[in-house]
Amino acid sequence: MISHEIKIAFDEYESLADLDKADRLLCLEAQKALKNSHSPYSKFRVGAALRLQSGKILHGSNQENVAYPSGLCAERVALFNWGANHPDDPIEAMAVTAHSDEFPIVKPITSCGSCLQVLAECEKKQNQSIKIILHAEDGPVWIIKGIENQLPFLFFEERIATP
Ligand code: THU
Repeated sequence: MISHEIKIAFDEYESLADLDKADRLLCLEAQKALKNSHSPYSKFRVGAALRLQSGKILHGSNQENVAYPSGLCAERVALFNWGANHPDDPIEAMAVTAHSDEFPIVKPITSCGSCLQVLAECEKKQNQSIKIILHAEDGPVWIIKGIENQLPFLFFEERIATP
């Protein structure tokens, strides 16, 4: 028997004020995206913003549906928008934030497994890793570089894609 250990790494900043300007502005864009969240069922708003290499910003927010599984997370709304409309303009960074009227969100929310699997495919497609910036309304900011630091056991089967 062999025991393996995997290390993942991320940086924590005390607040948005400690980020560099481009990343701080991207977090503000993620906050703007909260406005269009359609979340009458969970009442949990999630906003995402992508910064592309060209400087273009794309927004996403969670979009729920009365048939619950038909809804989609903010991250995938933003990432699929990128794939559908700007696939040749690589994603440098994605900021994600959340808001609830019912309770304060004091630490960053981390993306669900399905969003991470989609993020992995985006990194692979553009052959470049993506900086993820997770922030709550108040409190620390977490910066995570590359899918390997979030989903080390992602589904990745080379033989499916290669004839
Ligand atoms: N949600 C996101 O938008 N992103 C995540 O990474 C996790 C959860 C949404 C889905 C649903 O609309 C609400 O948050 C509550 O789960």
